[in-house]
Amino acid sequence: MTRILMVCLGNICRSPLAHGVLESKLPSSKFFIDSAGTAAYHIGNRPDRRSIEVAGLHGIDISTQRARQFKVSDFDTFDYIYAMDASNYTNIINLARNTDDIGKVKLFLEEHPTISNKNVPDPYYGDMTDFEHVFDLVEATSNRIAQKLLSTPL
Ligand code: 4NP
Repeated sequence: MTRILMVCLGNICRSPLAHGVLESKLPSSKFFIDSAGTAAYHIGNRPDRRSIEVAGLHGIDISTQRARQFKVSDFDTFDYIYAMDASNYTNIINLARNTDDIGKVKLFLEEHPTISNKNVPDPYYGDMTDFEHVFDLVEATSNRIAQKLLSTPL
């Protein structure tokens, strides 16, 4: 089983989308996908209704996800930890215990085929256009990650 964790700040807007979209592209018999937030603000909450809506428009149901906070033991549980932006990346790295932990953490958009800005913009104070933009970034990046994972046996 390969385990992949998506991380943003609140775990209600960006990482639930990355979680749901990547999960839809990989067989659950071989891949476990989860998401978390570096902050504790929204623990136990559903994804933001706008994330639920934009995922739904693309045929993906993320409404059963519940927010949780990133924890140090996630470094043991997961093989790959993807941070949605540089600030999330720093927050995760600050909890790392050793170089093995650090080696598991990457910026999610490092896997995007073309875009040079490696931060998924936080859509929380935005509107549906911002959520659609996040969805598009997540979709293109998840395609690339899934392609890589399916062609590289661990
Ligand atoms: P997320 O977005 O990190 O993509 O889940 C945010 C959600 C909530 C807040 C900030 C960003 N907040 O400040 O409550």
